[in-house]
Amino acid sequence: MTRKFSGEKLVLASHNKGKLAEFSGLLAPLGITVVSAAELNLPEPEETGDTFEANSTLKALAAAKVSDLPALADDSGLAVSALNGDPGIFSARWAGPEKDFAMAMRKVEDGLQAAGNDDRSAAFICVLTLAWPDEHMEVTRGECKGKLIWPPRGDGGFGYDPMFMPVGRTQTFAEIAADEKKAISHRALAVEAMLAKCF
Ligand code: IMP
Repeated sequence: MTRKFSGEKLVLASHNKGKLAEFSGLLAPLGITVVSAAELNLPEPEETGDTFEANSTLKALAAAKVSDLPALADDSGLAVSALNGDPGIFSARWAGPEKDFAMAMRKVEDGLQAAGNDDRSAAFICVLTLAWPDEHMEVTRGECKGKLIWPPRGDGGFGYDPMFMPVGRTQTFAEIAADEKKAISHRALAVEAMLAKCF
């Protein structure tokens, strides 16, 4: 049975300040305080899963157990059809320790050229998990479909945004206004689904 969140406080299983601001803003109107894994000095578990679901649930579960509070975690990335879903869960890792996304995007484009067909479809995926200390979990998924363009365009956003054009648009995620991206992104859809399911 689906479990509803009934407390006043939850942990965000992420050390990323941007994510903390985003999730705090979404949950504040519901009277929920979000504390970050960094504030509680929680360790960052290794992402050993081989799916977005596996990594999202392992992060949420680890934070819930250590903090003894419900915990929210997300795992996201870009899945490219012609590359059999790569970079997928390896999206951050393709950019290397320097977080060089110009290089990561070039790697995607090289892969598309090598694939030798004209399928440039891709999707950004976000899997969100809300876990409780007793190991109960609720999971939602958001997907934003689009196509990849080359060369990359736009200065906004982050990661693979400059080469991703969502369906029905003529601008990349890096050209679209931040507020607009927030409304249609994979993360927004996963959060919306979680709010409807558990809050
Ligand atoms: P994580 O969920 O914080 O581990 O992020 C995974 C990686 O996926 C990021 O480092 C980005 O490379 C990529 N990614 C996730 N969401 C987006 C997005 O909205 N735009 C561009 N890249 C993204």
